[in-house]
Amino acid sequence: MARSINYFHPVVDLITSDERLKLIEIFNDIDEFRYLKPEGSVSRRASNKISADLKHGDAKFTETYSDKYPLCNELVERYNGSIWTFLHVKAGKSIWRHADYKQTRKCCITFPLYPDYSEYANTNFYDDLTQEEPSAYLNYGVVRSPALINVNKFHAVEKSTKDRLAFQIQFFHTSDYKTVRRQMQMNKLLTASV
Ligand SMILES: [Fe+2]
Repeated sequence: MARSINYFHPVVDLITSDERLKLIEIFNDIDEFRYLKPEGSVSRRASNKISADLKHGDAKFTETYSDKYPLCNELVERYNGSIWTFLHVKAGKSIWRHADYKQTRKCCITFPLYPDYSEYANTNFYDDLTQEEPSAYLNYGVVRSPALINVNKFHAVEKSTKDRLAFQIQFFHTSDYKTVRRQMQMNKLLTASV
């Protein structure tokens, strides 16, 4: 297995449990969802599947620059990020292997809000579209913390039996995963890798 830190790195959790509950309320208050455009090199089948899931609300992706939710902007500042988003995926749904669109994001910190880390589906990372075994996998049950993830690597989210919601902090699209990881290390925002 490749070195996992090329794909993800556990991050210090600066969000309190009260703030987590507020984030769930905020997500429930949002009714506009954004179309997530996967990277062009993703297979057409995966791209169609992801688009269909988003259209049917099986997966929901938000992004906002508005000041309507000051808590979200405050959390972004806490991590020196640029914008925030939520990713919601319905029970029984997986996210097929894809890479995020490089022009909009190269990495993000994912904070699983529900279910508990132990029940949160793995994110698997690959170096190409055909590879059978993942190069690395992020098991939140083991890590038990938020994680900075390299979304320019191909990644897929396994099916889970429960609805799942994550809050995500993104960085300016000009900052790639390694640059952000280095900055976070300098700011003591990384925990030991697993
Ligand atoms: Fe993605």
